[in-house]
Amino acid sequence: MKRVLIICLAVLVTAVMANAQTIVGSKHDLSTTGGTPATDVTRVCVFCHTPHQASAANGQYPLWNHTLSSTASYGTYSSSTLDATDVTDLGGATAGTAPTSNLCLSCHDGTVSVASMYNPPNEDTTPTITAISGRIDSGGLIISTANLGTDLTDDHPVNFTYDTALATADGALNDPATDTAVAALLINSKVQCTSCHEVHDPTNVPFLVMDNTASALCTTCHIK
Ligand code: HEC
Ligand code: HEC
Ligand code: HEC
Ligand code: HEC
Repeated sequence: MKRVLIICLAVLVTAVMANAQTIVGSKHDLSTTGGTPATDVTRVCVFCHTPHQASAANGQYPLWNHTLSSTASYGTYSSSTLDATDVTDLGGATAGTAPTSNLCLSCHDGTVSVASMYNPPNEDTTPTITAISGRIDSGGLIISTANLGTDLTDDHPVNFTYDTALATADGALNDPATDTAVAALLINSKVQCTSCHEVHDPTNVPFLVMDNTASALCTTCHIK
């Protein structure tokens, strides 16, 4: 009985340890608790979400609060072996209808301050930005390698449909209709930044949805 109990406890402890970690204190914590870079804002979620909409401008899933980029065109990845036919430019995004990838690009295309919000916290409506050498400049722009820039033609394609037809055409992709692990990575049947990244969880650096040892993330979709 005692041994069963110990085994149960061990299983429980492992399960708890495998749980998601918090965004608080991670690179996505831009508040005082993260120590970077808005040195006078004590709240964490506010840089990306607001509990109450300030105006129609930010009527965006999921209660989006970070100013979207006004970049008109990012271009799209193309190649002679690409089978996807609907890779759609993320440029010219409109708050309220923008795909989730535009939420990431609102900081990661390097054109909007990380502290630019539709509805800043009442406690501090004009956050003070403290530059962090090599990472964030005094204007709040990301200047490290995490700045993807405004050209996405050299990045893994996003904002396109991944369905049975694409898997068949490609011949080396798992079929999302029958493979639940693939289906779980898609947003409205599309590949987006969040197919591979989970902004809230720093467990698998850099904010990956799963451990990518032996490229396990890549081989979830690609049969390679
Ligand atoms: C750096 C930006 C950022 C910060 C900070 C952030 N989030 Fe998010 N959050 C996102 C993005 C992007 C999405 C949409 C994509 C997704 O679902 O991951 C999202 C989605 C969500 C969702 C809806 C989808 C889901 O996962 O349930 C909830 C709830 C949420 N966030 C809560 C929070 C809370 C609570 C905090 C603070 C503790 C927080 N977020 C901080 C970027 C952020
Ligand atoms: C509010 C601004 C903001 C938004 C929105 C945002 N990020 Fe970030 N992200 C940052 C900052 C700031 C860093 C840290 C940059 C540095 O210190 O070099 C970062 C770092 C990262 C990193 C590198 C992490 C590491 O460990 O090196 C990844 C990956 C990332 N973000 C992905 C995303 C994705 C995907 C989304 C959308 C789902 C997103 N981010 C949305 C601000 C943001
Ligand atoms: C197909 C999976 C996949 C997609 C889609 C994807 N990423 Fe990534 N991303 C990764 C992996 C894997 C890494 C780590 C690369 C490395 O360690 O060299 C990464 C790294 C990053 C980094 C850190 C770069 C650095 O050198 O510091 C940022 C920021 C980032 N991604 C943001 C994004 C954003 C924004 C999008 C959507 C426009 C996106 N990612 C789409 C898989 C993906
Ligand atoms: C969510 C599923 C998914 C994940 C995870 C994923 N990919 Fe992809 N990837 C795709 C799809 C779908 C395409 C489009 C294939 C096509 O149209 O031919 C693609 C395209 C590509 C291409 C371009 C193929 C071409 O013909 O030009 C490369 C290379 C690639 N992925 C590598 C990777 C790597 C490396 C990783 C891991 C870091 C990864 N992918 C993770 C789904 C995924």
